[in-house]
Amino acid sequence: MSENNQPQLIDVVLVSKDTSFCARAKSMVNEFHFTIEEVATVDDFIEKYSDTQINFIILSTETANKDEAIGMVQVAKQFAPQGFVLVVVGKKLEASALPWIRKSGADVVIQENEYFESCKLEYFAFHSVRLDYVAIKPGDFIENSQLDFNVYHFMPQNKKYLPVLHKGLKLEEKKLSKMRDSGTDLYLKRKDISKYFKYVSTHSDQSAKGLVSRCRSQFLTLSQSYLELIITLTEQTDKPSYEEGKKILEVCQQLASDLLNSLMTVGQVQNIIGSLQEGDFGSVERAPERAALAGFFSLLSEIGRPEDVMLASLIADIGILKLSPVILKQLRQKKFDTMTSTEKEEYQSHPQKSISYALNRKIQLPNIVKDAIALSHAENNQKGFPQLVPDKILLESQLLLFCEELDNEMAVTMGKPRPIFKDVFNKLLEKHSSFEKYTVKFITSLKKVSASI
Ligand SMILES: [Fe+2]
Repeated sequence: MSENNQPQLIDVVLVSKDTSFCARAKSMVNEFHFTIEEVATVDDFIEKYSDTQINFIILSTETANKDEAIGMVQVAKQFAPQGFVLVVVGKKLEASALPWIRKSGADVVIQENEYFESCKLEYFAFHSVRLDYVAIKPGDFIENSQLDFNVYHFMPQNKKYLPVLHKGLKLEEKKLSKMRDSGTDLYLKRKDISKYFKYVSTHSDQSAKGLVSRCRSQFLTLSQSYLELIITLTEQTDKPSYEEGKKILEVCQQLASDLLNSLMTVGQVQNIIGSLQEGDFGSVERAPERAALAGFFSLLSEIGRPEDVMLASLIADIGILKLSPVILKQLRQKKFDTMTSTEKEEYQSHPQKSISYALNRKIQLPNIVKDAIALSHAENNQKGFPQLVPDKILLESQLLLFCEELDNEMAVTMGKPRPIFKDVFNKLLEKHSSFEKYTVKFITSLKKVSASI
């Protein structure tokens, strides 16, 4: 334990004897400014970290023995139950062993080539370390209720979360009104989302405020299910079946329709979704927010079927996980102009890679969903990709592109005032009134909804 009796916190621990694994892990942590420590074996891991809280564990099995690999995973999970365990299996291990490793406690299992050549490592590490907390609103708390989870404040100076409401606390009006007046976001540990959902469902009333709280807690639940969806969709360690593919599709459709029902009841989307923070991973983790935006605008503008655009939105950028770490780095720095032609080609293949992730899992996406994903970067002025004549660009695909742009414009920058949704939306319509990026029909349809926002 550290001096103040708080367990020591480390972002990432790598268990591997291989120096090339260490180099790869270090380049990932440099990208996000995470802390990392390395140990050679699982025994070293237990000895060193029994009193440590670790967010993300990379465990390289480096063995041909299935039982040995399973044992390593079980031990790591037992000693770091809160941590996300990413297991990297080498070529020596038979493919039949992989599902067993997944079942023995690994949160995700990837193959050695994926570890080095794709940015799955970056995505799962970012999710475990940076998205460990989710934003909630002071208005969700009710006087005299009792909490069974901690609530935190974010301290921007040292980037730490400080508990402000403790588990078991009975909430007094004085404290609540002080929190509401401050207007700042509060935070919740991601693992407590289901407890928070239960709290809000039990305590919120039928007022408009109560509905917003319930819708927001539902959105957080959906964003948690989305992580599961990504893990399942990008899994390459077992043989998928059509039956399984159908189940996954049903989960996606359920995600979309639950959220849609909530949005229809509440009639606003901006108070439901969280904002992109400067320096975040990129676009993949924003899919639930963008799906909510796309569904909301589809409902209001009658562009496409809301269920289709939401499904397309959830899947459209998953292919980014197949891109190389080098491309991701450029993507995060928005260096599209300095990419070589090969790098550009790789980046531009991501919508097709998203579709192929779904096809590999035997998911039969409706044609309109596949087409909206494939064209999700097509622009009216042919500066996007693929380059098509305007007649061929779908309204649905333009909605995906627009929601990505809107979400980026809503990003919160430290020290600057939070952008106002209606203003950002209207400014974007104004910016695109010469119809370079989007078609006339698309912008005209969106203009009609401006008054309802
Ligand atoms: Fe994309």
